[in-house]
Amino acid sequence: MSEIVFNNFGFVSACDDIDYTVLAGRCMSEKGMEKRVFRDVIFKLNLTENDKLLEIASGTGNLSIPISFIVDSVSCCNYDLLIEKMKNRCPYADNIMYYPGNFLKISIDEQYDKILIYSVLHYLENEREVFDFIEKALKLLKKGGRLLVGDLANADNENRFYNSQKGKVWMEKHYKDNKQYGNNGQKVSFSEYLVDMKKDGSCVKITNELIFKILKKFREKGYKTYLMEQPSNLPCGMTREDIMIVKYD
Ligand SMILES: C[S@@+](CC[C@H](N)C(=O)[O-])C[C@H]1O[C@@H](n2cnc3c(N)ncnc32)[C@H](O)[C@@H]1O
Repeated sequence: MSEIVFNNFGFVSACDDIDYTVLAGRCMSEKGMEKRVFRDVIFKLNLTENDKLLEIASGTGNLSIPISFIVDSVSCCNYDLLIEKMKNRCPYADNIMYYPGNFLKISIDEQYDKILIYSVLHYLENEREVFDFIEKALKLLKKGGRLLVGDLANADNENRFYNSQKGKVWMEKHYKDNKQYGNNGQKVSFSEYLVDMKKDGSCVKITNELIFKILKKFREKGYKTYLMEQPSNLPCGMTREDIMIVKYD
């Protein structure tokens, strides 16, 4: 992950007034929509009560915490400051484990039935990091297990949608909804916490080309890979999509 983006997540996590949706990189206008991500992830990963799930880059648990109620256990990896904040949200959870640190650098010995990487890849520095990230995750997946690499911010989809008539109407509503929260004195997005900080780390650009490269590369390595639609009523659902990677039995 780019150093600047990393510092920004750390800085913002220490802000007491921040909303958990905003800390997960979403806007206040997407707060209601975030609830639908939970169902979509359960469905795509086919989560069951026997599953051991690893969420890599779990933020402060917006997905992991509710998921912990319907699976055997959830292990969460993220930077230590966010993990500490997550622990404070659910101090009595007895089936949530934590791996604080940069996923690319820490060591995890367990094997998991299901793995979730959601809304993360676009924060990584370059293509090499993207492939290392997925490769490392797949080593932790049991045979027959499923990895969902979700919420891919595809720049090609964004260009097409935001330049369309429908996209312009969507954008207008999005600004209006956020303005309403803003009028109530609420900071509505991550960037509003970063006024005095450098904002732009150099991050990888997710494009059609990169997405198809991921699908091809891991298929050639012997996995089943699929590109999946995101329902349009999810946060950024008009432009994002998901990759599913399944390890053969
Ligand atoms: C947009 S948030 C998404 C959080 C959560 N997955 C969700 O969808 O609610 C991205 C998270 O990725 C984490 N992250 C990015 N790169 C990481 C890495 N190399 N190791 C661990 N966490 C990372 C950031 O700290 C941040 O919390």
